[in-house]
Amino acid sequence: MTVPADSPLTEAAARSPGPAPGPAPGLLSTPPVGPIEIVPMRRRHLRSVIRIEVQSYPRPWSLGLYLSELALGGLRFYIVARRAGEVVGYGGVMYIGPDAHVTTLAAAPEFQRQGIGGRVLWHLARAAVAHGAENLTLEVRVSNGAAIELYRRFGFVPAGVRKNYYAEIKEDALVMWANDIGAPEYGERLDRLAAELDLIPGKAAPGAAGATTEAP
Ligand SMILES: CC(C)(COP(=O)(O)OP(=O)(O)OC[C@H]1O[C@@H](n2cnc3c(N)ncnc32)[C@H](O)[C@@H]1OP(=O)(O)O)[C@@H](O)C(=O)NCCC(=O)NCCS
Repeated sequence: MTVPADSPLTEAAARSPGPAPGPAPGLLSTPPVGPIEIVPMRRRHLRSVIRIEVQSYPRPWSLGLYLSELALGGLRFYIVARRAGEVVGYGGVMYIGPDAHVTTLAAAPEFQRQGIGGRVLWHLARAAVAHGAENLTLEVRVSNGAAIELYRRFGFVPAGVRKNYYAEIKEDALVMWANDIGAPEYGERLDRLAAELDLIPGKAAPGAAGATTEAP
C-alpha cells in the first residue's frame, strides 16, 4: 500500500501478502459463515488479528505496530469482522489528505471466499466516504489475483506498478485507485455491493455512518 515517508507504516507497508489459502479442493469442510458483525478494532482483538496476520502475510505486522496504528485515532479506521464472537477478518485505512489508503485487509484462511473480505472492504469504503475522502488507493502484489478481483469489484482500477516493491519476495506492486468516491455513482456501487454482500446500506460500522454495532 502507498505510504508516506514519515509514516510509522513505512516499514510495515513494504510487507507483502502471501498466498491466499482456502479450503482444500473438493472438501466441504468450511461451514456456512453465518452472521458477521463488524466492530471497531480494539486491543482485545489483536491476538486474533495477529493470528490471521501471520497466516496471511510473509512479513506480518507486529502487535506493536497495530497498537501504534490504533493510537492514531481519527487518522486511521480499523475494523474487525466477527462471527460468533470470533475474529474472522479485519482491515484498515489511513487518511492522507484527500485519499484513504487501504493499509491492510485479510480474512481468516478457513473463512475465505465467504464474503468476509468483501464486507470488511465495504465498511472501509463507506467509512472513507463518510470521512470525506475523495479517493481510495492501495498497493497489492501483482500476482494476488483474489485481492485484485475483489478490489476491481469495488471500482479500483490499476494505475501503475511499483517495481520490486515487495523486495523480500522480489515482486512488484500494482497500485490501484478508486476515484471520486464521494460521487453518487460510487454510492450506487456501494449500494449494489451491499445487496450482493447481504449488507444493509446505512448500517455501516462505527465511524462510517454513525451507526454502532458494539459499544466502544
Ligand atoms: C483478499 C482476501 C481479503 C479476500 O477475502 P475473502 O473473504 O476471501 O473474499 P470474499 O469472499 O469477500 O470475496 C469477494 C469477492 O472477491 C473476489 N475474490 C475473492 N477471492 C477470490 C479468489 N480466490 N479468486 C477470485 N476472486 C476472488 C470475488 O469477486 C469474490 O466474490 P464471489 O465470491 O462472489 O465471486 C483474502 O483472500 C485474504 O485474506 N488474502 C490474504 C491477505 C491478502 O492478500 N490481503 C490483500 C492484501 S492487498
